Amino acid sequence: KMIKKAVLPVAGLGTRFLPASKATPKEMLPIIDKPLVQYAVEEAINAGINEIIFITSPEKNSIKNHFDKNEEIESRLIKSGKDDMVKKLNPDIFSNITFYYVNQETQNGLGDAILHAESIIKNEDFAVLLPDDLFFSKRSCLSQLIDIYNEKKSSVIAVNKIDKENIHKYGVIKPGKVSDVFINVQDIVEKPSYKDAPSDIAVCGRYVLTSSIFNHLKATDFDKNGEIQLTDAIRSLIKDEEVLACLYKGEKFDCGSKKGFVHATIALALRDESISEDIKKIIKDII
Ligand code: G1P
Repeated sequence: KMIKKAVLPVAGLGTRFLPASKATPKEMLPIIDKPLVQYAVEEAINAGINEIIFITSPEKNSIKNHFDKNEEIESRLIKSGKDDMVKKLNPDIFSNITFYYVNQETQNGLGDAILHAESIIKNEDFAVLLPDDLFFSKRSCLSQLIDIYNEKKSSVIAVNKIDKENIHKYGVIKPGKVSDVFINVQDIVEKPSYKDAPSDIAVCGRYVLTSSIFNHLKATDFDKNGEIQLTDAIRSLIKDEEVLACLYKGEKFDCGSKKGFVHATIALALRDESISEDIKKIIKDII
């Protein structure tokens, strides 16, 4: 059993980025020169995934256009001697990947989005990547989860410790036994209040899930906001199966917020050799 399929939920309206997200999906907004969603797709492919399932909406055609091979622009680039740009246009790593696009007609939450992938995933274990969360580390976040999955064959969730005053924005685990590599998850709650939070260990946007999650998702009720929460289905899964958490070691940018998006842009600009010196100078001048 290997993790070969990944689900990327991208149907959200992206209201926090209006008006930018009016005609351009927020997942297509660039961090420097690459759309946010491509970072998650590359992380998935580099972790061994070869089928990517976008749960999307009919207005977000540009995501499909972006991952399709564009032969017309490729031949125009070659004709004008810009062969070096072809790898950016049609990256080699996409060539053996199957991309699926499934429409989520109504915004019924992350759990409902994942359920839309069932007919493609069937009874395989799979990965979920939330593209708003951008991660950088030597061994990628998803690879860290898959390492644990390969050994334990259980669901594995990425978590990180956060300031308790921000805990209400995340799924939060109640940790059980802790080893060097993983934490046994005893319970998990979606967006608890400060006083109800079972710990300061929050779920970040990468998961490896066993296919039994689908039955738990189907049995999950809508929450008070009319959404089916993945967290509630995982809570129910824990009653049947071991669920583990992996304390993610590396950098994390929450690109679902303006602050995180700008933070990621500055951090990556300072790492881009073609502009970093200029950017440093610009920042210095501004300050
Ligand atoms: C979702 C999950 C939440 C998780 C978070 C990570 O929430 O429901 O459990 O902690 O992603 O980014 P959202 O950010 O979509 O509200």
